[in-house]
Amino acid sequence: MAESYVFPRDGRVAVPVAARGEGAHIVGADGKRYLDGCGGAAVSCLGHSNAAVAKAAAAQMQKLAYAHTSFFTTAAAEELARELTKRAPGNLRRAYFVSGGSEAMETALKLARQYFCEKGESERKNFVARRQSYHGNTLGALSVGGNAARRALYEPMLSPCAHFVPPCHYWREGKEGESESEYAARAANELENKINELGAETVAAFVAETVGGATVGAVPPPPGYFRRIREICDRNGMLLILDEVMCGMGRTGALFACKKEGVAPDIVCLAKGLGAGVMPIGAALCGEEIYDALAGGSGFFRHGHTYCAHPAACAAGLAALGEIEKLLPNARAVGKQLMSLLKENFGAHPNVGDIRGRGMFIGMEFTREGKTPFPAEKRIHSQVQRAAFAEGLMVYGAGGCADGKEGDHILIAPPFIFSGENAEELTQKLSRALTKVF
Ligand SMILES: Cc1ncc(COP(=O)(O)O)c(C=O)c1O
Repeated sequence: MAESYVFPRDGRVAVPVAARGEGAHIVGADGKRYLDGCGGAAVSCLGHSNAAVAKAAAAQMQKLAYAHTSFFTTAAAEELARELTKRAPGNLRRAYFVSGGSEAMETALKLARQYFCEKGESERKNFVARRQSYHGNTLGALSVGGNAARRALYEPMLSPCAHFVPPCHYWREGKEGESESEYAARAANELENKINELGAETVAAFVAETVGGATVGAVPPPPGYFRRIREICDRNGMLLILDEVMCGMGRTGALFACKKEGVAPDIVCLAKGLGAGVMPIGAALCGEEIYDALAGGSGFFRHGHTYCAHPAACAAGLAALGEIEKLLPNARAVGKQLMSLLKENFGAHPNVGDIRGRGMFIGMEFTREGKTPFPAEKRIHSQVQRAAFAEGLMVYGAGGCADGKEGDHILIAPPFIFSGENAEELTQKLSRALTKVF
């Protein structure tokens, strides 16, 4: 390859040039085909050659590429907000559009803070989140993220207003003889303990991924956990912010993962699948009372970015929503098939500790034996990701899922167009990769 002037993600790794997309595959400039088993980072939910979304974005660009939100709204933003809020749980009635997941989380944190200030509860400045979580890489979002490795370097710059409780992960954290529902109650009560420690009047919100994502490795909550969390938030007058940046927009089989938990958050964040990878877009959807408190108070949300509600991104989001809804039955069916294939082929593998997830959102955790993780320095997740990539398969490897330092897993989050044949191809390629690594 010619000399590069691009600042790469990891200067130690030479990555190939991606030339084009063909359905569930990315084709390199050298002609090598890669089956996309993870949508990059759970982004490309429609695969790599969806015409409808690209066409909608292009049509909007030709009509009007950009209009700043302090001067205009656009039909694309209005329509996307209407369609998303119509499908959202509870009373989420307003959508604030940004350019990605971290910006959506920053919006949620600031909105929660301003909401309480408008209500005269300005002592509410603390946020409680969970360890082994991820909410983005900007400083506010990173502050409430429980990914020890991602935080370490920036620790002195992170907010003192972020506090942590343990992750909710029955397979790893459940005690001998403890049922899933007993564990769910114990895990949720950790929030209550933390609120008591901080003083309820100082807490603004609890922040959590509805289905734990890249850091913990696709872990759905045990039944009852979020209902108890919702009760605790209500009792203490604080907000529930759910981060569905990764697990939302159909990834788990439903547009909003929290609907299965029987709860509605006060703010939900979306991104990734919202633009299907065609355009960068994120959103924070908030409840009526929050919007009304600002509208009836100062009237002005002290926040904003240049590219808020970008018209082409909103047009892409609207088209993506329609395409996702058409593909959801396939995603649910192939997600089930893929989970069975993975369990059949790797369930008894001595170094596969757990295979879990929901819908097209699957985590596979690697262990030395039983639940004992490999030493972190072995970087097993990275070895598996690289071996799979050499086989022509993209899976997303990450470390630290056990305790923030140790624990290796891969995320499998394929596009919703995946066929049974694609699921077989993924299983075969992954099998060859695991043979190489172990
Ligand atoms: C749950 C979750 N929240 C927030 C983010 C941050 O999104 P972005 O990378 O688009 O800023 C991510 C990204 O992986 C995520 O998985």
